[in-house]
Amino acid sequence: MSARHIQITRDAADLAWTAASEFIRIGREAIAERGTFHVALSGGGTPIPMYALLALPEWRTRLAWDKVHIYWGDERCVPPDASSSNYGTAKNALLERLDLPAANIHRIHGELPPEEGAEHYVRVVGGVIFDLILLGMGDDGHTASLFPGSPLLFEAARLVAPVYVEHLNSWRVTLTPPAINAGKVVMFLVSGVGKAERLYEVLYGEDAPERLPAQLIKAGRVIWLVDQEAAGKLPIESPP
Ligand code: 6PG
Repeated sequence: MSARHIQITRDAADLAWTAASEFIRIGREAIAERGTFHVALSGGGTPIPMYALLALPEWRTRLAWDKVHIYWGDERCVPPDASSSNYGTAKNALLERLDLPAANIHRIHGELPPEEGAEHYVRVVGGVIFDLILLGMGDDGHTASLFPGSPLLFEAARLVAPVYVEHLNSWRVTLTPPAINAGKVVMFLVSGVGKAERLYEVLYGEDAPERLPAQLIKAGRVIWLVDQEAAGKLPIESPP
């Protein structure tokens, strides 16, 4: 049974602060209980301010990074130093500022042919229970690299798969819904007025996962951290 929790923040800065606090809280809890914190980062731009906060001394000193294992929910099939690499984005904003053993960073090898990258990554994540999976949501309702109409939306067997994204003319490697839904906590970060209409549809509209892939995410606990702009159409009170 998936539990859903929606939290509205004043603005994008408050979203980053709240997300960073949750990241630390969930991480400390996982390390206290199991000795490690397995977390999958998301791509896109929304999490970058949160990564930048976590990189600050007053934040990064609150987690035992040697016990943290970093993964990704998806990756573009580009080299790790490409500007569009989700790994590269997190490395520049956060990872290179942490005392994190290289062996704890489990990137998707976007430089490989997509099928090979997926085959490598499925061996990396096999047997891992994610304590936290960060996800974003596109203004078309996609999440990770699960786009509307994708052949992966109803994938039941594979945990990782390559996918060609027609409208972006690019290959990606992504966790599939079963892999994401096996996670303990999923935390969506959604910001900006451009997401408001779709966010309403995903959370309160008809059940239409083919068109709104974010509806497929039903992990143990799903936290929606959304700023006031993105929450503009939701039938719930925004913070004062
Ligand atoms: C990616 C992400 C993707 C992203 C959404 C939202 O690789 O781009 O996995 O799912 O989270 O597109 O992106 P923004 O945060 O930039 O709006």
